[in-house]
Amino acid sequence: MCGIIAYSGPRQAVPVCLDGLSRLEYRGYDSAGVAYVSEGAMRVVKERGKVSVLREAVSGNGAHKSRAAVAHTRWATHGEPSRVNAHPHLDASGGLAMVHNGILENYLELKTEMEAEGIRFDSQTDSEVLVKLIGRELARGLSMNEALAAALERAEGSYAITLLDRGNPERLWAVRNKSPLVLGVGEDECFLASDVTAFLAHTREVVHLDDGEVVEVNGGSWNVTRAPGRAGRRKLVELVDWDVQAARKDGHPHFMLKEILEQPKVIRDCLTGRVTADGALRLDEVEARPVPSKLTILACGTSYYAGLWGKYVIERLAKVPVEVHVASEFRYEEPVLGPGDHVLVISQSGETADTLGGLELARERGAELLGLCNVVGSSIARGVDTVLYTQAGPEISVASTKAMCSQMLMLLLMAVSHGRRNGSLAEEAERELLDGLLGLADSVEESLDTIRVQARRLAREYAHASHFLFLGRGIFFPLAMEGALKLKEISYIHAEGYPSGEMKHGPIALIDRDFPTLALAQRDRLYAKVKSNLAEVRARGGPVIALTNPGHDLDVERAWEIPSLPEPLNTFMVLPALQLFAYEAAVALGRDVDQPRNLAKSVTVE
Ligand code: G6P
Repeated sequence: MCGIIAYSGPRQAVPVCLDGLSRLEYRGYDSAGVAYVSEGAMRVVKERGKVSVLREAVSGNGAHKSRAAVAHTRWATHGEPSRVNAHPHLDASGGLAMVHNGILENYLELKTEMEAEGIRFDSQTDSEVLVKLIGRELARGLSMNEALAAALERAEGSYAITLLDRGNPERLWAVRNKSPLVLGVGEDECFLASDVTAFLAHTREVVHLDDGEVVEVNGGSWNVTRAPGRAGRRKLVELVDWDVQAARKDGHPHFMLKEILEQPKVIRDCLTGRVTADGALRLDEVEARPVPSKLTILACGTSYYAGLWGKYVIERLAKVPVEVHVASEFRYEEPVLGPGDHVLVISQSGETADTLGGLELARERGAELLGLCNVVGSSIARGVDTVLYTQAGPEISVASTKAMCSQMLMLLLMAVSHGRRNGSLAEEAERELLDGLLGLADSVEESLDTIRVQARRLAREYAHASHFLFLGRGIFFPLAMEGALKLKEISYIHAEGYPSGEMKHGPIALIDRDFPTLALAQRDRLYAKVKSNLAEVRARGGPVIALTNPGHDLDVERAWEIPSLPEPLNTFMVLPALQLFAYEAAVALGRDVDQPRNLAKSVTVE
């Protein structure tokens, strides 16, 4: 979604904001803009395209003088990507500039009302309606805090906004409602941003804002006020333990590649403090509560596929029945859920609007809420009863990779913990699994280079295909869907993930010489079944790449051998192979790997 960064302090605010925007570009990248006050005038520079285009446009615009600025990178929801629709937007007086992330749902009604009063609109955006609404209250003589309260009383929907006022050129105001916004506190300076990576180079001290809180910033001083009657927590300055280096490419051509290759480290970091060197599991957050008799998982995108994978391992190891729902569906259904039921919400960013919507419904039903999040202090992390952090470090590439590895690992640990506590998992089996986990990072690390070389060779050979089928069975079915998702997201090749055994009930009709299949054919308990399914594809002339292990006996066009590991640890070897295949295909096709068209990393609108 859109990215916001604003700065107030002794430095040149515009360059600070432009650097922040570059780090936020993964959230949206169809247009960008910045506002600052120079020589008593409000200046707004905005351009269609990426932040680099904006940077060019800003140079030599008197921008170096200002000590405060608000800036934005956009992912269009209302109004096409264009210069006029880019943020910041101005109120009717031209003295108030605002950047917005979210959706103002009743904007048409408010726009009609203001147009009748003679207020003119330049863009087709809902955001311009919001700033004009605030400006209208200011024009009535209200203070900024009063104007915000009055205007936002009328606003329906989600928003994180930051404002700059010509009359107070070093001051900023910001407020959030169901959209992320975090305050960064440095020495004599403050930052406001959609996420911490935008200002991590300057400070790691943050204040997490709650919905409805207004923060006013002036250099290093900040003050939070809450609308009467709205709940919130005492504001604490917290230290983020991500470092700047982790949010950089480290010599890799793309964040996505860097993040795929980081998986051995992610595995080690996830296990730190949870599995001891002698193989004992400690999952305090989970073990403080009884083992659920049933579990409902909510998530979107890649996190949803991690959840589906989790269903297999939790049911197998702990015999706890698991339902997995796409959060955007769940939130508008009539789920059979009540007090005492356990809901697990999975989200890398912790800000996905649909997942938050699902969480709220589950809360209304009285369910116990557990969260699996990567971003510390995110809305989902703060909205659940108990949070488990995946400790994967910042994930910048739009296509999620290492986060799924960390989510699967945590789900596996939960399965082991539940299974041990409810007696479903024998001590011997638990020990074997945990020992295997302790060696997992090394095994993946030793193989990644070879897997990448193989992925590149195959991807170059097959990237011309218009369609791809990914097949898998058991725990590999969710991975087949994830492999297909990765390929379509970043290479734009149409791909579907399907359970191998279900092929014969329809999709096999599609198979011909130009329709390749990537089959997950690990030599595990379902290998023989997958082998028969592949024979059916081959018999129809379909090219098959089989992701298998040494010693296989498959008759396929290309056998891609990766080291074998016991189930379910072998999924941690298959996952990066699929991600690297998609990555190399996208590179071969010259795609914008880290910022694929039409997508955004953190989807903070419905
Ligand atoms: C977006 C991203 C996906 C991600 C999904 C869920 O669609 O492009 O990569 O899997 O959101 O995000 P979450 O942060 O909730 O895991």
